[in-house]
Amino acid sequence: MPGGMRERLRLLAARLMKPGLAGIHERLERMERVVLGRIDRLGRPAEKYEEELGFWRWLVKTPEGRKKIGGAFEEVFGRWQRQRLLELGERLGLESEAALDAWCEGQSVVEIGAGPYPAVAAAPAWRRAVAVDPLASGYAREGLLPEACDRVTYIEAPGEAVPLASGCADLVIIENALDHVADPEAVVAECRRLLRSGGLLWVLVDLSEHRDHMHPHPFSESRIRGLLTSGGFEMMHDRVSDHKSHPKAYGEYRGLLKKPAAQLRVDVSAAITRTSHPEGVTAAPHSVHTGDVPTG
Ligand SMILES: C[S@@+](CC[C@H](N)C(=O)[O-])C[C@H]1O[C@@H](n2cnc3c(N)ncnc32)[C@H](O)[C@@H]1O
Repeated sequence: MPGGMRERLRLLAARLMKPGLAGIHERLERMERVVLGRIDRLGRPAEKYEEELGFWRWLVKTPEGRKKIGGAFEEVFGRWQRQRLLELGERLGLESEAALDAWCEGQSVVEIGAGPYPAVAAAPAWRRAVAVDPLASGYAREGLLPEACDRVTYIEAPGEAVPLASGCADLVIIENALDHVADPEAVVAECRRLLRSGGLLWVLVDLSEHRDHMHPHPFSESRIRGLLTSGGFEMMHDRVSDHKSHPKAYGEYRGLLKKPAAQLRVDVSAAITRTSHPEGVTAAPHSVHTGDVPTG
């Protein structure tokens, strides 16, 4: 008999034998239903994700949503996301759109908190393009993914635990998502893990003091810079502007960062002691930096 069923029968028997306990058990069961009702089978806060999905459904499918963004979702987001990618091209010193597209063709990219129109959908081709979002199935089921997403592989997962191999990405993109996630530090650590040595992180986040259940982690400029650099990234370029996505934000932070190449440190003191001083004369311990070495 499954454990859950056995436990229920045990409670039922306890209630029959001690009717006074019935009230307590019922109250506990009610509390359990309330708690479980807010967490779905993947451990996600159900209300938050229902609200997020509802927002996109409204934006993509209703005339009010289209009015809000000034046109059809696919066209407007296609244009916005292309602009964001063009900015990456500028930062990389790629001199034309053709040069950007050619660069993308050689990159393996992972986008976290991708939403239904990710930045990766705005390039004609990548070596490999993966979009990670806890709502991936919802976006697909509701028919919210535009045609441009046909060349993108969606994975349903939180950015805190991405089921992809370490070092698999040349580029990780995360736009307007760090303030939405449950644990920004864990997401930045995942970005670093996914990137190969020398790989790039392209980040966009609203600057805001407003906190709510949809945006549990508002970022100031210093907080986002601190998060990224203490997460082990090297700043290549960043900027702040007064553009923003959320009405309660006061600006926008954009950063291009690099996962530093690993430095191999070899402690040779033991070897020196063994080879140059066979009688056991101790050499001062020292280590050798062999410079940048690619790691996975
Ligand atoms: C404001 S939308 C941004 C979508 C897209 N990046 C864009 O700029 O249009 C935030 C996205 O973050 C996703 N999200 C929420 N919690 C997340 C988490 N823990 N890990 C990864 N993505 C998450 C939401 O499902 C949603 O798709």
